Amino acid sequence: MKFKVISGIGLLLALLIFSCQSEDEITFKRYYTTGSIVYQTKCQNCHGKDGQGLLALMPPLTDTAFLKTNKAALACFIKYGIKGRLLIINNKPFEGEMPLTDLAPIEIAEVLTYITNSFGNNMGVVTAQQVSNDLAKCK
Ligand code: HEC
Repeated sequence: MKFKVISGIGLLLALLIFSCQSEDEITFKRYYTTGSIVYQTKCQNCHGKDGQGLLALMPPLTDTAFLKTNKAALACFIKYGIKGRLLIINNKPFEGEMPLTDLAPIEIAEVLTYITNSFGNNMGVVTAQQVSNDLAKCK
């Protein structure tokens, strides 16, 4: 009897953990897929189909170290644009201008999930909640 209860709880726990994981997986796929469409319409013109950038004008999105270090600032970059800021991307200096966007926090989360998990990056999901938190702290 005792064994049955314990194994029952074990099974329940296992199910719970399993379903949580697949829920995360579903969220990731949903964000990533919608993010790729946001990227194509709002970012690709400048940053390129494969995030390769354009010569000395547009920085590539392939610098994982930069993206990791500046993770909390990425939402601010997209919402408010970038101006008069020297960025070192893949060891090259960029001092261009990126326009602001009218994307909602959920769309920013989606496009960030896309770029931080494409082009050789593998940083996991960025949620709309995370984006809202980050936007509240933009400098
Ligand atoms: C009109 C061209 C343009 C568009 C459109 C644009 N960017 Fe940028 N982006 C730039 C430039 C130029 C910089 C570098 C600014 C600097 O040097 O200070 C930049 C910098 C960045 C950076 C930080 C540097 C890097 O390469 O990692 C990220 C991240 C980024 N953009 C993501 C995006 C995303 C996501 C979108 C779409 C929502 C987007 N950009 C749309 C031109 C653009």
